[in-house]
Amino acid sequence: MLDYINLKYKPKKTDLVCEFYVEANGVSFEESAENIAGESSIGTWTDLSTMNEKIAHQLKPKVFYLNEKENIIKVAYPEELFEPGNMPQILSSIAGNIYGMKILKNLRLEDITFTKKLLESFPGPEFGIAGIRKLLKEKDRPLIGTIVKPKVGLNEKQHADIAYEAWVGGLDIVKDDENLSSMSFNNFYERIRQTLKARDMAEVKTGHKKIYMPNVTSETMEMLKRARFVKANGGEYVMIDILTAGYASLQTLRNANLGLVIHAHRAGHAALTRNHQHGISMLAIAKIARLIGVDQLHIGTAVGKMDGAAIEVEAIKNEIEAKFVHEKKKQHILEQKWGNIKPVFAVCSGGLHPGMTAELVKIMGKNIIAQYGGGCHGHPDGTRAGATSIQQAVEAVMKKKSLPEYAKTHEELAKALELWGCL
Ligand code: 3PG
Ligand code: 3PG
Ligand code: MG
Repeated sequence: MLDYINLKYKPKKTDLVCEFYVEANGVSFEESAENIAGESSIGTWTDLSTMNEKIAHQLKPKVFYLNEKENIIKVAYPEELFEPGNMPQILSSIAGNIYGMKILKNLRLEDITFTKKLLESFPGPEFGIAGIRKLLKEKDRPLIGTIVKPKVGLNEKQHADIAYEAWVGGLDIVKDDENLSSMSFNNFYERIRQTLKARDMAEVKTGHKKIYMPNVTSETMEMLKRARFVKANGGEYVMIDILTAGYASLQTLRNANLGLVIHAHRAGHAALTRNHQHGISMLAIAKIARLIGVDQLHIGTAVGKMDGAAIEVEAIKNEIEAKFVHEKKKQHILEQKWGNIKPVFAVCSGGLHPGMTAELVKIMGKNIIAQYGGGCHGHPDGTRAGATSIQQAVEAVMKKKSLPEYAKTHEELAKALELWGCL
């Protein structure tokens, strides 16, 4: 067995560093670390007659940190182990076979530090926060949007009509849901045509820029065809479910350089992130997505914790982790300076209603995209009033007024607060 542990080793700038949470199974902590380093790079379960000094010298990773009490190890990998610009290959190494090893009970990839060379091999976001704010001509306030509901079931015209109502009611953004693509009752191409027309009408009616984010998630050739269709019909955005579509697929979309803002939904992330002893952290996923080049990414809604359900609190830990991991800097991982990789807009979505807006902004700051699905279309007076109530909630927050106080002179907000028990 090659000796991978070297606690005196100081990672070089040309090392990719991974932090893992590790629970050994029937072997020592050290032995589990040796095996993780080997299996994720050049090793296998036994010594090899084909191994030589040169390979070992050039490519051997080093376990330079072991903390058995907290179950943490850190491994430095020479960057030559990785193909620049190939995210699946990088993850097949550092997040691949190692998860299945018998000598591990649990394993979680907590964090990845990429090297400059690898960083420069990915484009990152084309637009980023600044580009999106410029597009919407909104410098400061949170951007607000909705998801057409029901998730699936509406036809193309109903979809476009509801989108129109939401925009005219005061929202900036309308997006498709994660499981809406091209259905027997709602064809993608027809939906795009009609909904983008509705967007144009809403822009004329309101005098404001409006955004539609169509979900192009599908087989990669078809996905590109759909994205090009969006562009050809005057769309500025596409949305993709990055985990179910896969990172190669996301790279295909980004590297096609279509000049479209990419909205990343994280449906399925909890299969990887929810168990804090196993899987991949949301922090690592956020870094991967930013590097490949999404412009905006779902990171959860933190305020859900007020409901106090154990499941939600658990989910929120992931979100806070993504948000405040570098607490000292008070800047979350999507916004931190990172070479030439532009900052990514954090999207808060899932279970939001207007009454949560003040708390949400308090926790997450103003640089967010807040999306309300049920919290818009569940309004007693319908989608348009729901959209207005959300706009009023954001207005109140920006004017530093309490929501109940603002609701006294804003009927739509008052009705929403009443319905969801916030008055
Ligand atoms: C949704 O689609 O309902 C949500 O955006 C999912 O929320 P999550 O990103 O916190 O999982
Ligand atoms: C999303 O895709 O982000 C959601 O469907 C959120 O919907 P909700 O606000 O009704 O949870
Ligand atoms: Mg959804």
